[in-house]
This record gives sequence, C-alpha cells and structure tokens, in this order.
Amino acid sequence: MGTPSPVPCPCASLVRDAPDGADVCAIVVAGGSGERFGDPRGKQFVDLCGLPLMSWSIMAFDRAPSVARIVVVCAPDRAAQVEKDVLSELSLAKPVTLAPSGATRQDSVRSGLDATPCDLPLVAVHDAARPLIEVGQIEECVSAVRVDESLAGAILAARSVDTLKLVEGNTIVATPDRSFYWAAQTPQVFRRRVLLAAHKAAAHEDYQGTDDASLVERLGGKVRVVESTRDNIKITLPEDLALAEAALERRLLT
Ligand code: CTP
Ligand code: MG
Repeated sequence: MGTPSPVPCPCASLVRDAPDGADVCAIVVAGGSGERFGDPRGKQFVDLCGLPLMSWSIMAFDRAPSVARIVVVCAPDRAAQVEKDVLSELSLAKPVTLAPSGATRQDSVRSGLDATPCDLPLVAVHDAARPLIEVGQIEECVSAVRVDESLAGAILAARSVDTLKLVEGNTIVATPDRSFYWAAQTPQVFRRRVLLAAHKAAAHEDYQGTDDASLVERLGGKVRVVESTRDNIKITLPEDLALAEAALERRLLT
C-alpha cells in the first residue's frame, strides 16, 4: 500500500479569498456575563462613542493587514443581537463567523479555536472587553511570532508601574522586584496548532488558566511579551467606561 494522500482541509475554501499574506484568524471573545460591570444589557453591548462596545475591537482586527478572518464568540442567545446590532452596522472587509461561548472564558476560546480554519497558521485571541486595541499593536504581536520560529506565541503586556507586594491575609510577606512583572493583556497571538494542543491538554487535566499564554507556558511553549500602553484597558467595572470613552475620543480627534 502506498502513502495515503493527505486529507484536504475542509476549510480550505474559507481562506481562499484571504488578503495577500494574511495568516491570522482573530478570535474575539464576547461571551461573558459582565457580572462586575453589572449592566443588564451586558458590557459588550453598552454604547461606547456611538457603537456597541464590542464593535471597536472587531473593527481593529478587520483593519489589521495580518488578519484574514474573524471569529466572534458570543452566547448563543445573543447571536441574533450580535448580527443585527453589531456586525450589520459595520462595513467589515473580512469574513466573520460566530461561535457559541462556554461557561468560562477558557471554554469560549476553545469554542472559537474549533471554529478557526486550519489553513491559517496563526490565531489572535482578544477580549471584546478591550475596545482600545490598536491595529499597530495587533501587527506587532503577529510579527513577533512570524519572525521567530522558536516562539509559540506573543502577547501584549504592560510593565508593572506599581510596587508589588506579596500578601498573605493582610500581611506583606515579600516585595518582589517589579521589573520582572508585567500585566498580561490581549491580543495573545499563537501558532494555531500549539494553542489547540494547549487547550486540549488543559481540558484533559482539568486546568483552568486566567489567560491563554498560561496554557501554552505549562506545556513548555516559549511566549514573549510585546510592550503595550496602559491604554489597552479591559472594561471590567462601570467606571472603566468613562476612561475608555475619553481615550477613544482623544484618538478620534487626533
Ligand atoms: N468571556 C467569554 N466567555 C466567558 C467569560 C468571558 O467570552 N464565559 C469574555 C468576555 O466577554 C470578555 C473577556 O472574555 O470579553 C474577558 O472576560 P471578563 O472581562 O472577565 O468579562 P466577563 O466574564 O463578562 O465579566 P465578569 O468576570 O465581571 O463577569
Ligand atoms: Mg470574567
């Protein structure tokens, strides 16, 4: 018997029309319940400078030259709302598909990953709750992974500006050297097959991480940081919205 011929990727047709050189599928996770934000509409849908909050990050990935297509992960009962109030209001150049969210952010990313075409070697996972992401920052993370074959991924992160304390109960037990500490943000860009393997391993071992890089790190994958501004905040509490609004208005005026 000869060597079996490779099975063609069922999603090849999805990437046939990708812009030249675009090798990234963006996964924008928007399936959370926004408990800390506390708005019954869900923080992804509240108005930010005239658009539902999640629109801003989708637009940034749509404009990023490295991105071929976008998967938006949302609660199944919000899919119609995402189509009508978000996607149909934007003139997007890239194809967008929806994937159902899961109980945790990690489950939502996994669902998004399962919806990414295997022909695109890179994925960029991004929180819909970070509307201030800029195209240049997305491209920087992507380039970092493209140029260094030893990397499993690259994430946007900000240097710690505060002095950090290790606290037990309410007692300080150590003051670590803050120059070693960075706050992880998104996007987090990975080789698709590596992130998928890391998610499968985490699911198998019942491990819940607080970001995607941690899943890859625990398998020994090398992930680098790309320095971010502190602007790229995650909308978590109601007061974060005013900060994002001010930053976005400043940006739109310049
Ligand atoms: N997210 C998701 N699926 C989940 C949980 C979170 O897609 N099951 C998404 C959120 O929509 C958000 C991002 O992951 O864009 C970061 O999560 P977070 O800021 O914690 O948002 P929520 O989980 O919605 O907020 P909270 O933790 O306050 O309930
Ligand atoms: Mg959450």
